[in-house]
Amino acid sequence: MNDWVKATVVGKHAWTEGLYSMQFDGPVADFKAGQYIKVALDIEGDRVGRPYSLVNAPQERPIEIYFNEVPEGPLTPRLSDLNLGDTVWLSAKPGGIFTLETVAPAPTLWLLATGTALGVYLSILRSPDPWERFERVVLVHGVRHGADLAYDETIAAIGARYGDRFAFVPAVTREERPGALPGRISDLLTDGRLEARLGQRITAETSHVMLCGNSAMIKDVKVILENRGLVRHRRHVPGQYTTEQYH
Ligand SMILES: Cc1cc2nc3c(=O)[nH]c(=O)nc-3n(C[C@H](O)[C@H](O)[C@H](O)COP(=O)(O)OP(=O)(O)OC[C@H]3O[C@@H](n4cnc5c(N)ncnc54)[C@H](O)[C@@H]3O)c2cc1C
Ligand SMILES: NC(=O)c1ccc[n+]([C@@H]2O[C@H](COP(=O)([O-])OP(=O)(O)OC[C@H]3O[C@@H](n4cnc5c(N)ncnc54)[C@H](OP(=O)(O)O)[C@@H]3O)[C@@H](O)[C@H]2O)c1
Repeated sequence: MNDWVKATVVGKHAWTEGLYSMQFDGPVADFKAGQYIKVALDIEGDRVGRPYSLVNAPQERPIEIYFNEVPEGPLTPRLSDLNLGDTVWLSAKPGGIFTLETVAPAPTLWLLATGTALGVYLSILRSPDPWERFERVVLVHGVRHGADLAYDETIAAIGARYGDRFAFVPAVTREERPGALPGRISDLLTDGRLEARLGQRITAETSHVMLCGNSAMIKDVKVILENRGLVRHRRHVPGQYTTEQYH
């Protein structure tokens, strides 16, 4: 059973049509970067809740989520209709194990996201953990269109703070976008263009890889990583990659 707390919408930003960030003020317990909360609305007598990764760092408030509307979905069309001052339910305790807590230090941390999965990495990147345990952090954001490359100022601020220790690569699949690699993350790994841009390779000896977003990307990239000798990380059996699937 979820323990729900009431929260107020205190911020809302539409990046493009159907792509939103939303901020809440509510008594949610402390969390680790990489965890999620459930957000719920009461719809026709039922409380409909869905998990959302926290975008804010653990030391920052308000609580922030980043989501896209699924037109036929029960929650997101209603969530995106909310305005400042409206009320939602949040799970009192964040959950999830997509964190760096049990991951061993390595030279490079690779953070691979499709779509709104970018958000979870913005929390991780704004916490101290990755910078204490990894020499370099690479963030790759795969989207359909250039307009879906949200949070550009946040990413630029992380780059300004950490310099050469941080690299960001946007990958856009459905149009040409200056500065972005054209194609899917999986294809860019297979043909070597991603690693050529960065001047380094993903290997079991040098890397930990986090995969978050759509199930097709995770499935395809897992095969590529396993062919290179990386194995799934488990709490008591350390490995070199971890995953979190949104849909
Ligand atoms: C651990 C976890 C964390 C998540 N964090 C986020 C997050 O930070 N941001 C976010 O946008 N979503 C996130 N999701 C997905 C989210 O929980 C909802 O499923 C999504 O927002 C759609 O909600 P809905 O009620 O409108 O539709 P649902 O009833 O949840 O889904 C309807 C259908 O749409 C599919 N679907 C779900 N999400 C998407 C999507 N983004 N694009 C296309 N199809 C989709 C579902 O597989 C299903 O077939 C997360 C899911 C999990 C399991
Ligand atoms: N701006 C938004 O993000 C937005 C706004 C409103 C509504 N929506 C809706 O939300 C849904 C999800 O859209 P989305 O674009 O956020 O997410 P998505 O469909 O998961 O696509 C995100 C990226 O992942 C890529 N991808 C798909 N399969 C892959 C694979 N096997 N390996 C590697 N990469 C893969 C896609 O490439 P391909 O282009 O090649 O598939 C795309 O570049 C859609 O129904 C969309 O219409 C999105």
